[in-house]
Amino acid sequence: MHLLENISIKPYTTFGIEAKARYFAEITSVDQLKEIFHEPRVAGLSFLPIGGGSNMLFASDYDGVIFRMGIKGISVAALDENYSLVTGNAGEVWDVFVDWCVSHGYAGVENLSLIPGTVGSCPIQNIGAYGVEVSDAIEYLTAYDKETGEIVTLQNTTCKFGYRDSIFKHEAKGRYIILSVTFRLAHHPTFHTKYGAITAELEAMGITTLSIEAIRKAVIAIRSRKIPDPFIIGNAGSFFKNPTINTDHYNRLKAEYPTIVAFPLPDGSFKLAAGWLIEKCGWKGYRKGDAGVHAYQALVLVNYGTATGHEIISLADDIMLSVYNTFGVHLDMEVNVI
Ligand code: EPU
Repeated sequence: MHLLENISIKPYTTFGIEAKARYFAEITSVDQLKEIFHEPRVAGLSFLPIGGGSNMLFASDYDGVIFRMGIKGISVAALDENYSLVTGNAGEVWDVFVDWCVSHGYAGVENLSLIPGTVGSCPIQNIGAYGVEVSDAIEYLTAYDKETGEIVTLQNTTCKFGYRDSIFKHEAKGRYIILSVTFRLAHHPTFHTKYGAITAELEAMGITTLSIEAIRKAVIAIRSRKIPDPFIIGNAGSFFKNPTINTDHYNRLKAEYPTIVAFPLPDGSFKLAAGWLIEKCGWKGYRKGDAGVHAYQALVLVNYGTATGHEIISLADDIMLSVYNTFGVHLDMEVNVI
């Protein structure tokens, strides 16, 4: 394991914000991972594991150890005639893993095509798109427990998955380093095409016979149009979560803004499209210096080149304030600010 000092982490994050790590290491085996926690040079410092660096924003330099999880590998174990257990090691790039599953005929993650990040980071914020959350497919995961030095197996229910949420953001924050994730994937797919954009895209593509390959293609086409490629414009996907409000609040907003985009939830509350709220406040396409709001998807904040973490956060604060003043709705950041 090679420990680098005073390293720019800009190339390791999709936002492309300049920040330095006091120490940086690439981890490619469990032994290296154990080694780093016992390295005398870093004793007493804090540790930050990163995957694709796709959901984080550095507001300042990191006075600790950042290590990139690079443990690769995909394996399969048959479960029964209908399902297989497919395991991806933490360092596998998420979309490479999805592509592997789709091309080998394992169904369940195709709607999550092209989401940036790695297999190891997907459970933390329970990535989701087009009517599917990754927690729908996760059976269990393995992780290194920093408190005990043991490798543990955490079953799906133990992870307390919610909308862009899990124990890894709360009571277990900082405790576990995810090593691998095992998915229960189907041999005979159930297609999730209800999400409006997918049906329309499949129609536009002239697809009449559904398949997981076709869904992957449709999702890639939609995402490529709406969400900027981080290699071209720095971003971390959706910057905010879609907020939930109660029925009374929804009825009042609906009366005043008949075109508001909202989805009823089973408990009677409503989830609002934050992109719609932000756009309605006039932010879509806004740019100040190199910090901006994407022109095609107002939920995505962008770095056109040299924006600082503070400039992005200041823009996010202004957006949150104007959405609150206009709709009485509080937006929560989805991105992890370091
Ligand atoms: N909308 C607008 N203006 C905008 C953006 C969206 O009016 O600028 C409205 C549109 O009417 C659209 C609705 O909002 O129908 C929903 O927009 P979209 O389908 O783009 O999805 P989203 O709710 O903005 C969520 C996820 C995305 C995921 C998409 C597709 C969150 C925070 N974001 O975005 O996930 O790809 O749905 O399922 O839940 C991510 O988490 O980083 C991410 C990209």
